[in-house]
Amino acid sequence: MTDAPAPSKLAMVPFVSVAQMMEMVNTIGPRQMMAELAEYIETDFRRWELFDKTPRVASHSPEGVIELMPTSDGETYGFKYVNGHPSNLRRGFQTVTAFGVLARVDNGYPILLSEMTVLTALRTAATSAVAARHLAPEGAKTLALIGAGAQCEFQALAFQEMIGIEKVRIYDIDPAATQKAVANLADSGLDVTACDSGEEAVAGAEIITTCTADKQYATILTDNMVGRGVHINAIGGDCPGKTELHRDILLRSDIFVEYPEQTRIEGEIQQLDPDHPVTELWEVITGRKEGRRGADQITLFDSVGFATEDFSALRYVRDQLDRTGHYSMLDLLADPDDTRDLFGMVRRAKG
Ligand SMILES: NC(=O)c1ccc[n+]([C@@H]2O[C@H](COP(=O)([O-])OP(=O)(O)OC[C@H]3O[C@@H](n4cnc5c(N)ncnc54)[C@H](O)[C@@H]3O)[C@@H](O)[C@H]2O)c1
Repeated sequence: MTDAPAPSKLAMVPFVSVAQMMEMVNTIGPRQMMAELAEYIETDFRRWELFDKTPRVASHSPEGVIELMPTSDGETYGFKYVNGHPSNLRRGFQTVTAFGVLARVDNGYPILLSEMTVLTALRTAATSAVAARHLAPEGAKTLALIGAGAQCEFQALAFQEMIGIEKVRIYDIDPAATQKAVANLADSGLDVTACDSGEEAVAGAEIITTCTADKQYATILTDNMVGRGVHINAIGGDCPGKTELHRDILLRSDIFVEYPEQTRIEGEIQQLDPDHPVTELWEVITGRKEGRRGADQITLFDSVGFATEDFSALRYVRDQLDRTGHYSMLDLLADPDDTRDLFGMVRRAKG
């Protein structure tokens, strides 16, 4: 025990742990939470022009990447720390883990620290559904999901809730992963089929989501697997040297991206010329550019995940703190009564 004064109110920052995030998801319900998150994400895409934007800051290694994703709307600043290590799966670690911070721009004080591993899966699926809302063929009922890892079930539920998907066809190179996803979705109300190949999974699907993890130029979809009118939601190609689609598919598709400066480095379009035309999602959402034009068009959302989506997700979580009570206060900031007497504060804490 010391006789150090209790931390000031400003020193205490709301913190959402993994356990508290899971309670929040289960209190609100995953589908409801992703639908609500989608509204925050879409609202921030509508405000796109006022955000600070930069491709994420990536530190690459042979095993994977560690990235920082900052942005600000002028009032609030946010960043996410996230890794992507496809080789982790074989070593018993998560491929993707994350946490994030929101802070006040006016004084720089953090106002939220949150786990973001679960939140990233929710926000990625919500973003995919936002894009599909503007790009997928009207009345789509069948979703093919290739890659049944951590993101998979979130994608299925978001598309059920927001797009009206009724059937999901799942393929993973590892049948145990497919079975895990089928079991997790058993009480979802979705008609779920485990498939033995990617070709089988895409049969009859109006929407194809690829969410595999491999640190290489992979070919999860070949040209002959993609029929006219399909919407492709490609989320696993999100790093230099890591793609999922055959180049010929890109040449047949109208391509939609989050932030071209980042996607040209990380997305499927790294396989194309640097000036290959793409449409930014915010322009479709705000009505400046056309999304889907007709029944035969192949639309491709070349998703890599952008900082504003994490900002929106953190903003959403902050707004749920009082509603759910699922957080604790963390003594994160040194905030001495006499702002210049930081050393004195440390010395008085000795008792
Ligand atoms: N775009 C975004 O915003 C965003 C967000 C989160 C994750 N991601 C990316 O999405 C991908 C999936 O993430 P995750 O957390 O689900 O990873 P994960 O490691 O949990 O799952 C990946 C799955 O892909 C399967 N797979 C690998 N190669 C395959 C192949 N050739 N055919 C079929 N299945 C194959 C694996 O067996 C595994 O089950 C990763 O590449 C990740 O970097 C993107």
